[in-house]
Amino acid sequence: MKNYDIIMDMDPGIDDAVALTLALHNSNLNLKLITTVAGNVSVEKTTINALKITNFFNKDIPIAKGASHPLIKKFEDASHVHGESGMDGYNFDKPTNNPINMNAVNALYQTIKNNDKKVILISTGAFTNIALLLTQYPDVKSNIEKIVFMGGSVHSGNMTSVAEFNMFSDPHAGKIMINSGIPLVMVGLDVTKQSLLTNDTLEKIKPLGPVGKMLYGIISHDFDHSDSGTAVHDANTIFYLLHPEAFQTKDYWIDVVTEGPALGATVADVRSAYHTDTNVSVCLKEDQVAFNNWILQEIKKIADNY
Ligand code: BDR
Ligand code: CA
Repeated sequence: MKNYDIIMDMDPGIDDAVALTLALHNSNLNLKLITTVAGNVSVEKTTINALKITNFFNKDIPIAKGASHPLIKKFEDASHVHGESGMDGYNFDKPTNNPINMNAVNALYQTIKNNDKKVILISTGAFTNIALLLTQYPDVKSNIEKIVFMGGSVHSGNMTSVAEFNMFSDPHAGKIMINSGIPLVMVGLDVTKQSLLTNDTLEKIKPLGPVGKMLYGIISHDFDHSDSGTAVHDANTIFYLLHPEAFQTKDYWIDVVTEGPALGATVADVRSAYHTDTNVSVCLKEDQVAFNNWILQEIKKIADNY
């Protein structure tokens, strides 16, 4: 399997924390930088949560704090889903590590430009930092291999009938990213609401020592669950990167709606009515069994080596 140099831009967030846990331990992924953004909760809290996870695993990855509010829209959090801290369900130690002394946009620019190969950006929060990076430093585009993002949906939303939370949080930023010309993979609600972590998998995670206890604690606290399981949305980006064969994708031209009742919607031009070109590879189907098998196997390895 190939090795990838990645950066994670995120708003932990329970499912972001699961994605980060998986990325921190995968030998095919070199995580160069973590940047945080306001989304599920304030950027102060998402930064502390990123510190808590890296501290829990004793991993020394630079963390840079990013945007505290969307480009234009008012900031609205999702603490009703992720809890007051943004990562409720486990009592983490107070982190002993600190964010670096540089803001997310400058840290992204320097890390990407100084890296000896192209970087893959994994984005699992509002797209504000990415939009600011691309606007302030457009020359960075040629150093980014692709952006794999959790956000959007072709079929239906989770904030409004048509808008997904990350896109809805900062639609103007989402639009800048989508129109950037960088290769994009959208791991949206079309697959993340389909490929749930089953209750059976969650029960198997529970007894896996301190790692199992922590992950079980936060995942079972997530309100995004049903009788059939929990949507650990952001973890699907890591699964996609390592196992694209488990996904069915289709290229579409996606437009992001920035006003009106469809604010934050990602409209796919399925009939090529407005565009002959495409700008996003959209994940439409995912192998749920493969996702559950993979995640359980990865967490067992992490727990064994903790
Ligand atoms: C997305 O919204 C957030 O609440 C989750 O962390 C995920 O990134 C799902 O719509
Ligand atoms: Ca997230």
